[in-house]
Amino acid sequence: MIFDAANVFVEAVKSGKEDAILDQAFELLINYTNTHFTDEEAYYESIGSSLLATQKVEHEHLLGELREMWYEKRHGSEDAGTDLDHWMERRLVPHIIEEDTRAQKA
Ligand SMILES: [Fe+2]
Repeated sequence: MIFDAANVFVEAVKSGKEDAILDQAFELLINYTNTHFTDEEAYYESIGSSLLATQKVEHEHLLGELREMWYEKRHGSEDAGTDLDHWMERRLVPHIIEEDTRAQKA
């Protein structure tokens, strides 16, 4: 769902959609990401993962980075779509593959 929402946002940016559409796409992305992280943290808590606190901090960082991209976009950045692509590739995917996997075993 996060990747679907991110792709909606990237496509909206690339095709030069109005700010109102971009607002909706970004809100969707933030909501999915926030819900996913909250559910994930509840799961780590339920299994007693020792990395719960670390995950919470990292999730806040990731959400902060998303909000920062939106702030930059709203203040004239033309790179929001590319930045989001890079964020998924360099931040979200490694988090899921490495840190989430580690937290499930800790
Ligand atoms: Fe996580």
